Amino acid sequence: MLRDGEQAPGASMTATQKMDIARQLVKLGVDVIEADFPASSEIEFELVKCIAHEIGFPENICYDHHVALAPLLQFHLNNCGDPFTENPVDFHSKDFEVAVLDWFAKLWEIEKDEYWGYVTHGGTEGNLHGIWIGRELLPNGILYASKDSHYSVFKAARLYKIDLEMINTTTNGEMDYSDLRAKLLHNKDKPAIININIGTTFKGAIDDIDVILQTLEDCGYSHNKFYIHCDAALSGLIVPFIKNVISFKKPIGSVTISGHKFLGCPIPCGVQITRKSHIAYLSRNVEYIASMDATISGSRNGLTPILLWYSLSSKNQIGIQQDVKRCLYNARYLKDRLQQANISVMLNELSTIVVLERPLDHEFTRHWQLSCVRDIAHVIVMPSITRETLDDFFIDLVQKRKMWYQDGSVKPPCVADDIGAQNCACALHNGIGPELLSGLSFSNRQPSLKRYSDDTTLYLTLPRTMLNLAISIGPSLNLVDPLA
Ligand SMILES: Cc1ncc(COP(=O)(O)O)c(C=O)c1O
Repeated sequence: MLRDGEQAPGASMTATQKMDIARQLVKLGVDVIEADFPASSEIEFELVKCIAHEIGFPENICYDHHVALAPLLQFHLNNCGDPFTENPVDFHSKDFEVAVLDWFAKLWEIEKDEYWGYVTHGGTEGNLHGIWIGRELLPNGILYASKDSHYSVFKAARLYKIDLEMINTTTNGEMDYSDLRAKLLHNKDKPAIININIGTTFKGAIDDIDVILQTLEDCGYSHNKFYIHCDAALSGLIVPFIKNVISFKKPIGSVTISGHKFLGCPIPCGVQITRKSHIAYLSRNVEYIASMDATISGSRNGLTPILLWYSLSSKNQIGIQQDVKRCLYNARYLKDRLQQANISVMLNELSTIVVLERPLDHEFTRHWQLSCVRDIAHVIVMPSITRETLDDFFIDLVQKRKMWYQDGSVKPPCVADDIGAQNCACALHNGIGPELLSGLSFSNRQPSLKRYSDDTTLYLTLPRTMLNLAISIGPSLNLVDPLA
């Protein structure tokens, strides 16, 4: 309970200290944080809102860098120029930067002496850099990007004046490979610069690198006729812990992530890794800074490599792996609860982005800080989000839907075009009348009994009654893990 300590005279906590404790509890995997009586103070009210309702954007707010690193703010740290060459001035953090880059190079399987990279100001800068390399290597190349790609990819096309072929996506948000094939064949006389999404922004869909490589080969594109940039902003730190998808052993050119997303960092930042051989085309020697220049920015934030280094070394591989596992479980948990309550929902494989029907009420989406597109919204299950928060969200949504849709004059949106008919629970696609929404009718879905992690709770869902029960079980009961 975050109020604890306030009972004893002279032992009170500031809002920041409470936030620290809440973050530590989340780090430890605690699912329920009782914040007690936040309305007694405006700051606490804001604090609790902040912890409890930030579920729509890919920010991991579970970090404690300020505790150890706040004194660094007294220094101006500038990593201007190449991370691998000395700075002309002493106030920089390039040793930390290289340590961070080495860590990611290892994760994405490229040898130390074969890679080049730098700590960026975010995923956008990584995309601009990756596509820039492609453009330098293949000056008359066409940029291929699925329509679900992040807007920074299309910005790159505009900035560099590259011809763009926008590729269709399937309803799960993945690239439509037959459309890619058709467009590659149509433009066969020109090289291809391809943006691959390792987790699209809205649906968390992962484009299949192997299928894309096969398609390139089938269409007659040899290795020197294509360049592949992987935008792995959120999932670049999720996927490698489950499946070996991102690897420089494949003929890919660059991979980028956002550091403030899954990993968690108080300042927006990112990492870009490419092949050393590629960077020679881009680099220019700048005498004034006594360095090769191959980055987008000149002056570069020297604080972020230390922040990233701190995140990596305080969590280490095992901590990140635990976060990945917990978030995937929790995303699956939320998806199942929504599905069993007959709410349209979709969750891609290896994704923590739960896509659902757009809530009717703007107040509701604002309260939960949901981002919406057309008739869909999403919840991004990050390490800082507890199971209790997801339960609160679910219960709030179910109750509000009863109000929004009870008299049948307004119906939940049909989202078959957005997430597929099989995931759509509208009256047409699920054969459900409005009476179900008030709990009077039967769903065609099955009751289920699930365990979402190796904790001691079973989740029993009875769709006919829309009843969800959490049952405590003894640790000796050995059930098959539904996600294993
Ligand atoms: C797939 C993808 N790429 C790139 C970005 C941009 O990242 P940043 O906000 O760090 O610039 C995002 C941000 O949400 C994203 O989802």
